[in-house]
Amino acid sequence: MLLDKLEWRYAAKKMDPAKQVPADKLERILEAIRLTPTSSGLQQFEVLVITNKEIREKIKAIAWNQAQVVDGSHLLVFAAWDTYTAERINEMFDRVNEERGVHNEGWENYRRMLLNTYPQRDPEVNFQHAARQAYIALGTAMAAAAFEEVDCTPMEGFDPDKLDEILGLRALGLRSAVIMPLGYRDAAGDWLVNLKKVRRSRDTMFRFID
Ligand SMILES: Cc1cc2nc3c(=O)[nH]c(=O)nc-3n(C[C@H](O)[C@H](O)[C@H](O)COP(=O)(O)O)c2cc1C
Repeated sequence: MLLDKLEWRYAAKKMDPAKQVPADKLERILEAIRLTPTSSGLQQFEVLVITNKEIREKIKAIAWNQAQVVDGSHLLVFAAWDTYTAERINEMFDRVNEERGVHNEGWENYRRMLLNTYPQRDPEVNFQHAARQAYIALGTAMAAAAFEEVDCTPMEGFDPDKLDEILGLRALGLRSAVIMPLGYRDAAGDWLVNLKKVRRSRDTMFRFID
């Protein structure tokens, strides 16, 4: 059951560097990211999958020295579009038309509406919107990792400008939003692993309006 896996998962603080996430599990986690829904279906981010130890050491140094960055076997970097351009918007609409093989006037009106709105906006507003979509994928990735019984640590604790520099993201029209090491918990070395999962009560979280 999904809820059992969500109880099992936690933001691992110490990962075992000797353990490797198997290729089939990684592929399924990445496929879950690819299937994540996004606003207008634009999929306005890319995910870098980094195994290179040297690069991960450099990233660790600008990520509060969080050991999971190198002790996990893979580091996912969710990098969002730096802005919306007509080209980026058209690419998605054209691909949908091609793959579905249909032409729909409502769909084309929707394309025109986005083209008349997004590219003209402040790039920072566009990046923030794109980054929110990357976070949806982060959520899917956390759930998918839990489903595969792979540990992960979602991380905002890093310097995004420095990470962009290390990975050359700006030249690709991308900016880092959030990162996530994947690996296996080092149960003996992790202070958090046996602590109770603490969440707000249902009463304080949900307002039912009948
Ligand atoms: C977007 C995001 C950023 C986070 N950044 C960090 C981080 O940089 N380092 C860390 O150890 N945990 C980080 N966390 C983990 C949270 O503190 C953790 O998920 C939360 O306290 C709930 O605990 P649990 O995930 O262990 O159930 C982050 C979580 C999210 C969702």
